[in-house]
Amino acid sequence: MAVIKYLILYMAIGSSVAQKSSIRKGAGYPTAQRHLPKRPTDPPGQEDYIPNEKCPLSDGFFPDEEQCDKYYHCVDGVHTEKLCADGKVFNDYDSNEEKCDLPYNIDCTKRHKLQPPQPSEHCPRKNGYFGHEKVGSCDKFYYCVDGQFNMITCPVGLVFNPKTGICTWPDEVGVTGCKSEDIFEFECPKVNETVAVTHPRYADPEDCQYFYVCVNGDIPRRNGCKLGQVFDDEKKLCEWARQVPDCADWYKDRLTDAQLEELENPKPKQEKKSQRVRGPSKRKHVRVNTQEEEE
Ligand SMILES: *[C@@H]1O[C@H](CO)[C@@H](O)[C@H](O)[C@H]1NC(C)=O
Repeated sequence: MAVIKYLILYMAIGSSVAQKSSIRKGAGYPTAQRHLPKRPTDPPGQEDYIPNEKCPLSDGFFPDEEQCDKYYHCVDGVHTEKLCADGKVFNDYDSNEEKCDLPYNIDCTKRHKLQPPQPSEHCPRKNGYFGHEKVGSCDKFYYCVDGQFNMITCPVGLVFNPKTGICTWPDEVGVTGCKSEDIFEFECPKVNETVAVTHPRYADPEDCQYFYVCVNGDIPRRNGCKLGQVFDDEKKLCEWARQVPDCADWYKDRLTDAQLEELENPKPKQEKKSQRVRGPSKRKHVRVNTQEEEE
C-alpha cells in the first residue's frame, strides 16, 4: 500500500517537473537562458524589447550611468527618473527592488556623481554618518536621519572612520589628526622580532584601568579592563585593583569598598520568579555599559 502511495506521489512530482520544464523551453528566452524559470513580470513580446540606456530591461529599477543616487523605474520600457534621499545611493543589486542605502557598501566608483547636498546642523547631507567638525574630536560622529543629527561617541580607544561609517582602531583610519600617534601619548617600546609577534601589552602610564596592545610590536591600540579591575603590568593581564599594589587605590574616588567587593564577588542573581513581575518591557531599558571588556 505504502509503495503504491509513493509511486503515485513520484508520478505526480515527475509530471509536474515535466510540465515545468516544458514551460522553461517556452518562447522569449535566448537559448542560454532557457533553463531559467519564466519571469512573471515578462510581458508578452519581451523578446522584441530593444534595450535603451535607461531601461536595459523593459521593467525594473536601473541605476543612472553617472550619478550614484539617481535611478530609473522602467515599466514596459518607459522610464521615470528617481532620486534617492540626500546621502543615500541607489542599490543596484537586484533590478526588481527599489532600494536606496547609505553608500558604505555600495560601489559608486563608476557612477560617482551625486545630487547637490542639503546640509543642516552637523549634517553635511540629510542621511549618513559624519565625522565631528572639530579637528581632533576623532571618537565622535553624527548619525543623520532626514537632516536630524544624533551625536555618537565611539567605544574607548576607537575613532570614527568616515570611509566605512563605523568606529575602528586609529591605525586603520589614517585621518589626519586621528592617527594612533595623534591621539595616544604612547609609543610602543622597541622590541625584537621574537617579542613583536606576541603583540606585547603595556600598562597605560596615565590610567590604571587601561593598557596598550602593541600590534606587531609597533602599532599601539588602547584597551581597557572591566570596571573594578586594573592592568597588572607584571602579569600582563587585568586583575582586581586591590591585588595590584601600584594601582590598589585607583577606584577610591569612584567606588566604595563595598561596591568593589560587589564587583569582585557578585551576589548570586535573584530568582527568575521575581523578575517575571509584569511591568514595562525590559527591552526599553537603556543599558548603560561603562565596562570595557578585556581586549
Ligand atoms: C628578544 O628580546 C627579549 C627581551 O628583551 C630577550 O629575552 C630575547 O633573548 C631576545 N631575542 C632575540 C632573538 O634577540
